[in-house]
Amino acid sequence: MVPSKEPAEVLRQLMAAELPEGLTAHIDRVVHLAGLLARQHGADEGLARLMAQAHDVVRHLDPRALLQRAEMLGLEIDPVDRVEPVLLHGPVGAVELYERFGIRDERVLHAVHWHTSGHPDYGPEAWAMFIADKVDPTKVERWPALADVRDAAWLSLERAALTYLDLLLVRAVTERWHVHPATVRARNALIARLD
Ligand SMILES: [Fe+2]
Ligand SMILES: [Fe+2]
Repeated sequence: MVPSKEPAEVLRQLMAAELPEGLTAHIDRVVHLAGLLARQHGADEGLARLMAQAHDVVRHLDPRALLQRAEMLGLEIDPVDRVEPVLLHGPVGAVELYERFGIRDERVLHAVHWHTSGHPDYGPEAWAMFIADKVDPTKVERWPALADVRDAAWLSLERAALTYLDLLLVRAVTERWHVHPATVRARNALIARLD
């Protein structure tokens, strides 16, 4: 008997034709690590892998196209999204997954929608995806402090996520970046849970 393909693999095949190679390679690495982190923490490995496979489905679209899509779809657009429309690839991606790729699992759509900031309602699978995305080796190479996030993730996904959001906030202050309100909300929720 031929074993049936897992949902992440089915989605990978559907997406592969549309995505640039570099993005597919990034997603493959995120899927792999998200699965390992989910296993480490006794979470649903298949769900974490599916969230990871789905997370960057429209990451290759240019910022103007993302903003246009978000406006057309009537999505909520924060002023920070208008400055950095690339942040909209989560919310736009979630709609795309529903409309074009048949993804109906609300947990997956929610995880993808919020994957640039994290979310107070994230469970272990979504945090596993979130962290696996942030500590992709190419990102750690560009920003070595991320190694702390990667190492912390084997002990606690939420602590690792908080470490990431702390690093991001410090850097945002130093470099005078905008901070998306969703990032602040996710960080506040983690602090309340962990302290
Ligand atoms: Fe992304
Ligand atoms: Fe990503």
